Amino acid sequence: MKHIIMIGFMGAGKTSVGKHLARHLGLKFTDTDDLIVQEQHMPVNQIFAEQGEAYFRELETEMLKKLMQAEERMVISVGGGLPMTQANQPLLKELGTVVYLRADVDTLMERLKRDTSRPLLKGGNLREKITGLMDARESTYEKVADVQIHTDKKAFSEIVLEISEKIS
Ligand code: S3P
Repeated sequence: MKHIIMIGFMGAGKTSVGKHLARHLGLKFTDTDDLIVQEQHMPVNQIFAEQGEAYFRELETEMLKKLMQAEERMVISVGGGLPMTQANQPLLKELGTVVYLRADVDTLMERLKRDTSRPLLKGGNLREKITGLMDARESTYEKVADVQIHTDKKAFSEIVLEISEKIS
């Protein structure tokens, strides 16, 4: 089953773009964070606080393996840190076409400045946190991606058309 998988930094628009793309293609949409939250009956923040990040990363890998069994083609948005777990990289490739949504730091700042749901961005200087994590992650996102899309200042409809063209 060749799904379409959205990767990228927190706030890059994986969920929003993924939902629009799924509607455009007539596919189901799903999101690994949502699936984990449903399964664990607690928000991501609480999983991090009570069980730690390493446990959350294990849940992500387990969720990817479960998605491998899906019989319906889907657009799948994955958490921003999921591609950083090495074991997940071949799983993502096997799962389908990987689309990296890029957004620059100013766009991410704007989208994330009032966010309270992401444990890795709590406290301290937001711009420094974003640039630090982005520096650590960008080359992995690029390595795992089949397709890269710049999303800054683009409407969802434009991004969706661009992805559709690049994956067809
Ligand atoms: C994370 C991104 C979040 C969520 C968790 C950790 C990360 O998902 O999985 O807070 O490490 O980048 P989104 O990318 O959907 O915000």
